[in-house]
Amino acid sequence: MKVLIVGGGGREHAIAWKLSQSPRVPELVCAPGNAGIAEVARLVDADAEDVDAMVRVTKGESPDLVVIGPEVPLAKGLTDEIESLGIPVFGPNRQCAQLEASKSFTKAFLARHGIPTAAYREYTDIDALKSDIGIFGYPMVLKANGLAAGKGVVLAKDAAEAERAIEDMMGAKVFGAAGDVVVVEECLRGVEASVLCFVDGSAIVPMESAQDYKRIGDRDEGPNTGGMGTYSPSLVFTAELEAQIKERILDPTFNGFKEDGLDFRGVLFIGLMITDEGPKVIEFNNRFGDPETQSVLRRLDTDLLDIFVAATEDRLAGQEIRWSDKRAVCVVMASGGYPGAYEKGKAITGLSDLDDGAICFHAGTKFGPGGEILTSGGRVLGVTALGATHEEARAAAYRNVAKIHFDGEYHRTDIGVVYR
Ligand code: AMP
Ligand code: GLY
Repeated sequence: MKVLIVGGGGREHAIAWKLSQSPRVPELVCAPGNAGIAEVARLVDADAEDVDAMVRVTKGESPDLVVIGPEVPLAKGLTDEIESLGIPVFGPNRQCAQLEASKSFTKAFLARHGIPTAAYREYTDIDALKSDIGIFGYPMVLKANGLAAGKGVVLAKDAAEAERAIEDMMGAKVFGAAGDVVVVEECLRGVEASVLCFVDGSAIVPMESAQDYKRIGDRDEGPNTGGMGTYSPSLVFTAELEAQIKERILDPTFNGFKEDGLDFRGVLFIGLMITDEGPKVIEFNNRFGDPETQSVLRRLDTDLLDIFVAATEDRLAGQEIRWSDKRAVCVVMASGGYPGAYEKGKAITGLSDLDDGAICFHAGTKFGPGGEILTSGGRVLGVTALGATHEEARAAAYRNVAKIHFDGEYHRTDIGVVYR
C-alpha cells in the first residue's frame, strides 16, 4: 500500500514515523517533508499549500491513500480535489474544513446544536465593532474570522488595547481577508485542555488527552507560538470530566454533523476551557495538533494505517484503538527569536546520540549541501520520550534535549509542569 503524506512539520514526522511501524509495510511518500521524515519516507519537493501542485504530485504518485496534515490545504479543498480522482483521503473536505477556517461558521454550528461555548457576536463593520467595545467586559476576546496561523486571537485587557486590535484586524488588515469578519466573545476562565478525535460517518472516537504549552516562555510568559511542548495523558482530566465531554460536546457534535450533512472524515481537534460550569468549546481545528500529535502517537498501540483506512471507509465504530499506559512528553527545540524573527541554516549536532526510546521528530529542518542537517524553521525539533511515570518521561525528554545542539537553540524548561 502506498501512502502520500501532505506536509513537512513535526506532526507529519510523527504521522510518517507511526505509519512506518505498520505491519502492512506501506510505501511512504511525503510532500514536502523534512530531513527527519526522509528517514522513513521518500520526499517530493512541492508546496503543501499549493493545491494544484499537490494534485500534480498525487496524480504522479497515484497513492492508495492521502493523509493531509496542515489546515491550509484542507481549507482550500485539497481533499475534494483528490477524492475526485478516486483516491481516498484522511482529512476533511472543504465544507467541513470551515470548522477551523471560519470562527463564525463554528460558532453558529455550536449554537445551533446547543454545545457549550462562549457567548459571542460577529461584526463586519468596523464602526459597529468600535461602538461595542467592552460588550462582554474585559479582557475583550477578539478573533479574526479566517485562518491566521494561530495568531488571529487577541485578548485585549482594556478599551485602548481593544481599539488597537480592531484597527489592526479590520482597519490595517494585518491578517488579510481573515479580518473581514471579527468575532467577539465572552472571556472564559478556567484550565485549557485539548481533545483530538478520530471522526468518520460511523463514530467520533477521542484519542488520549494531551496538554500543549502555547507561550514561548517558562510559566506561560510571552507571546503565543504554534506550541512549545506537550505531554500525554493530561493531568487535568478525570473520568467525570471525560464523561461530561462525551455527553455535552462529542455526542452533540457528531449528531450535528449528521443533521447538517457534514461528511467529516479525519481528526477533529477540540480546544476546551474547563470552567466552573464544565467544559466549553474554545475552538475546533480539523487536523492533528502540532505538537500534541508527537506525544499522543507515541502512545498509540494500534496500527495507525488501520485507523486511517477504517476512517476513509466509515468503519471507525468497529475499529479497535488501543493506547499504552506509558506517559509521553515532547519538548520543542526552537530557533532563537521565534515566534519573532530568527535565523535559519544552523548545523544541528547530537541527533545520533539519543537514548533508545527517545525519538526526535523534525519540524523545521533540511539537508545542507553536504547532507548535513540544518535548521530551516522556527520550531526545529520535538524531542519525545516515554516513561512509566510522568516524571520519568519528563526527565528522559530533557536528558535527550541536552544532547542536541544548534546555534541560538531555545526550549522551555517546564514542559510537563502543571500550573493550577
Ligand atoms: P483560538 O485560536 O481560538 O484557540 O484562541 C487562541 C487562544 O486564545 C486559546 O488557546 C485561549 O487561550 C484563548 N482564548 C480564545 N478564546 C477565548 C475565550 N473565549 N476566553 C478565554 N480565552 C480564550
Ligand atoms: N498545538 C496547537 C495546534 O496545533 O493548533
